[in-house]
Amino acid sequence: MNERDSEAVAALLRARGYRIVASEAECDILLLNTCAVRDAAEQKAIGKAGYALARKRRRPDFVVGILGCMAQNRGTALLEQLPDVDLIIGTQKFHQVPGYLDNLHAARAAGMPLGETIVDLAEEPGSQNEIRDHVLAQDEAPDAPPQVSAFVSIQQGCNMDCAFCIVPKTRGDERSRPMEDIVREVEQLAARGVREITLLGQIVTSYGRRDSAHTGGVSPFVQLLERVHAVDGIERIRFTSPHPRGFKQDLVEAFGRLPKLCEHVHLPLQSGSNRILRAMNRPYTRERYLEIVQALRAARPDMYFSTDIIVGFPGETEEDFAQTRELFEAANYDMAYIFKYSVRTGTPAAEMPGQVSDETKEQRNRILLDRLHENSLRRNQSLVGRVEEVLVEGPDKTGRRLTGRTRGNRVAVFAASGRPIGRLAPLRIDRATVSTLYGELVPAGVEAAEPKAGGQTSVFLSGSSR
Ligand code: 5AD
Repeated sequence: MNERDSEAVAALLRARGYRIVASEAECDILLLNTCAVRDAAEQKAIGKAGYALARKRRRPDFVVGILGCMAQNRGTALLEQLPDVDLIIGTQKFHQVPGYLDNLHAARAAGMPLGETIVDLAEEPGSQNEIRDHVLAQDEAPDAPPQVSAFVSIQQGCNMDCAFCIVPKTRGDERSRPMEDIVREVEQLAARGVREITLLGQIVTSYGRRDSAHTGGVSPFVQLLERVHAVDGIERIRFTSPHPRGFKQDLVEAFGRLPKLCEHVHLPLQSGSNRILRAMNRPYTRERYLEIVQALRAARPDMYFSTDIIVGFPGETEEDFAQTRELFEAANYDMAYIFKYSVRTGTPAAEMPGQVSDETKEQRNRILLDRLHENSLRRNQSLVGRVEEVLVEGPDKTGRRLTGRTRGNRVAVFAASGRPIGRLAPLRIDRATVSTLYGELVPAGVEAAEPKAGGQTSVFLSGSSR
């Protein structure tokens, strides 16, 4: 989601005549879009901002801005550690960044002293509708490898009250974008060469529930999936993240009837213990969670699952953790993000008794990571000798081969043959590691892709991520 927000800011800046540069060393303005979900993310952003500010000492007109969740969470308190920062901009004000930069430049041109910080952390009704512009590689340079996969934000904010989570504070109340706007954005992306869309929201399963009706037992989110599915040129659809509470039969059935919907579901579990789920204020049980997994496997036997898990939530005993391990086995995840619980000031869990030691969190983290490693390797190896459809995304890190992903979201690397970027192509897999499949494109069905059509200040946007 932060990547998507950064990209929308970049697109607005470009439209104002700023140039987005690939390297931090070249920029005149550095904007850090920050995360606050764990302390480590905040520390990373503060470190990075401090480093950027050191550059200001050599070059006083250099501009440093802090955007997003940490800006929202810490506000002007950031000035104690980072007194020279120029902008502190919250999560409902991303679209105001170009205006604030213009103001800053105008003020400086008029001889105003350097050193005033612009702070805007207010709520803004309708701000969810402003995350809609994209910068695609094909727009920058028509002969660049085209970007064929894009995120589309469908909702901002969160109304759940998970006891561990800072997001309701940093992102505000849940607000959905109108379905028409989202569909128009997807159509425009398809026209620019995008083939795969990932719909983004904090709780996508709650999409539109205040604005649209269930019709014929179909939730607004599934209605949105149907509309996106009907867009010509879009060949794959993904979404993240659903909430187990909102994962109803209509969504399970959507996997059976919408062929563009890829067979990979990211379904955050957080804990496999009912006692801990209750303490976390997560309104489902381990039994209900497994029921959803089983229903999805019945709809699509080759379904892939990933999840988010927190180890060491306050009060988590060995018995609770054993329940998480057991569920981890039962769900047989192909991928998981495993987090050590991080105290977030202002959340209910921060005040709970029974805080777990770092050592225990580390041990539990290790156990699940080892298990995940085995699962991922086994699943990837089961694909050796088979042909999987990949969406060819572009050159790999070495630049000598191509990379793409399977429908199950596994990364594949293969030799470049012709220019199939942006195409779905059959890949015969001949080797697999935990994280990567290696193989060869099957010649039949692979056509060369047509190239996609597609006075300044330089900006570099950076983000801290999970
Ligand atoms: N500590 C550790 N992990 C957290 N997450 C959210 N809040 C915390 C926290 N305080 C994790 C959850 C969520 C993911 C995005 O981050 O697993 O799903």
